[in-house]
Amino acid sequence: ASITNSATNAPRSTETTSKPMKDITILFGSQTGNAHGLSKKAGATFKENGFDVTVSAMNDFKPNQLKKVSNLLIIVSTHGEGEPPDNAIIFHEFLHGKRAPKLDHVNFSVLSLGDSSYEFFCETGKQFDKRLEELGASRVYPRFDCDLDFEEPAAEWLDGVLRSLNEQEGGVHQEVAATTMTAPTSTYTRSNPFKAEVIENINLNGRGSNKETRHLEISLEGSNLTYKPGDSLGVYPENDPELVEFLLQELPWSTSDSVTINKHGDILSLKEALTTYYEITVLSKPLLQKIADHTTNEKLQELLSAGNEEKLKTYIDGRDVIDLVRDYGVWGSSAQEFVSILRKIPARLYSISSSIQANPDEVHLTIGAVRYTTHDRQRKGVCSTFAAERLNIGDKIPVFVQENDNFKLPENPETPIIMIGPGTGVAPFRAFIQEREEIGAEGKSWLFFGDQHFMTDFLYQTEWKQWLQNGTLTKLDVAFSRDTEEKVYVQHRMLAQSKELFAWLEEGATVYICGDEKNMAKDVHNTLLQIIETEGGLSHEQAEEYLTNLQQQKRYQRDVY
Ligand code: 2AM
Repeated sequence: ASITNSATNAPRSTETTSKPMKDITILFGSQTGNAHGLSKKAGATFKENGFDVTVSAMNDFKPNQLKKVSNLLIIVSTHGEGEPPDNAIIFHEFLHGKRAPKLDHVNFSVLSLGDSSYEFFCETGKQFDKRLEELGASRVYPRFDCDLDFEEPAAEWLDGVLRSLNEQEGGVHQEVAATTMTAPTSTYTRSNPFKAEVIENINLNGRGSNKETRHLEISLEGSNLTYKPGDSLGVYPENDPELVEFLLQELPWSTSDSVTINKHGDILSLKEALTTYYEITVLSKPLLQKIADHTTNEKLQELLSAGNEEKLKTYIDGRDVIDLVRDYGVWGSSAQEFVSILRKIPARLYSISSSIQANPDEVHLTIGAVRYTTHDRQRKGVCSTFAAERLNIGDKIPVFVQENDNFKLPENPETPIIMIGPGTGVAPFRAFIQEREEIGAEGKSWLFFGDQHFMTDFLYQTEWKQWLQNGTLTKLDVAFSRDTEEKVYVQHRMLAQSKELFAWLEEGATVYICGDEKNMAKDVHNTLLQIIETEGGLSHEQAEEYLTNLQQQKRYQRDVY
């Protein structure tokens, strides 16, 4: 790296050298691990630059320590409908509440991560940025809002923050390599994925099921990649060739026209670029805005004008680039200009469903194929149907490991665990149990699984039954929602065993929820509250406190999507 060591610069004034070390606190809120990973890297960069660095998840940071902080960096993602990540909720609430301290003595800057196809893009970062200013802190560098392809802007932000803090401290101006955060380490990363061979790809659902859930086995041989139960695998999919064909038919350019896809000057044909590089399945307001800024398309400008927000939202929802081109015409005067507006295909993260201890050099995924019809066309989940329809044994796919410290087995193998994972939410629990079997963990374990039908949808049924038999799994409760007149869900099974479940909590169990966020995770959360309230003889507020407490002790962990 080209980070200049201060020793090679002109000698510092005595005042600078006798000054105490500059402190910096980096607080992150991370759901899938991106903000956490960036915080670690930022921490390392500041350490190399002579700062006394503290890196912490927001919820693990004692707010009364804020008075000792002089430089504060916030790195936070937004999820759901503009909500903070789980490990930021408490701190976010505290800072926005009446008890928040004055922060006149603090320099700060915010890096926010998000997805521009969501309405509340980077909302949590924006809120922190505004609130810190309200509390009197000085913004030393502007907030950067990053889209899914966050690595370059994040590196630029870090570079900028470092420069302005160095200037503030009146220290030596150091030349910092902008590549600090993107430089690949010895292993493969998001920006340098490993081309991994697919060694198994089967449908776990039986004939007649409404669902198709793929079990993928992927070889990591030769990659040096490793992972822990609870981590995710990032996968870069390709677009559906049929969809690409539809789009090409609408475009006035030749499929073989060449386009430059990045600043390294890599060139692909238009057809290849639309298949392997550009996102064509999602519309967003920023995308439409960019097109409108580049053209004189009056119809599009009209859709984007003030007063039409609801109309715009309705239009964007469920439509793709093909719809857009059909409804509003093409933009740009060349294939190059056309694609330059588009976003890169983002990697999809899947909770890993295997333990590498039990399957050396392998990683397994459990992927539900997404297919539905809207706006008169069948729509398909890009990565899930890529896996279901076009990924054959022997094919290679670009992958990387995404650590997830928010979803980890207890350090003590004797700690009881309660796992709630209907549908593909069961994936990380297969990894948990494989791992616990492999290491001979003695702790009790309890799985709640649910899906539509017992006959066709009981994912990994034989494995669970074997683990029950050999004692690796202590208890198994299943809820098949469409086998009976009335729907039965995992939370109904939990309620039916309310007493025992609460007893496990009191014994120190860790609770995990994985799967659908909107409905399932919310309902299960409320059911947990209800159980704690009833069995613990607590008020609703006390039950909430009990759960918050569990969360803070990392005994309530969620991996929801
Ligand atoms: P359903 O599709 O029959 O409504 C995995 O997808 C399982 O989760 C299915 O059995 C599904 O039932 C169920 N499910 C749907 N909504 C749920 C909710 N709010 N809470 C728990 N399980 C739910």
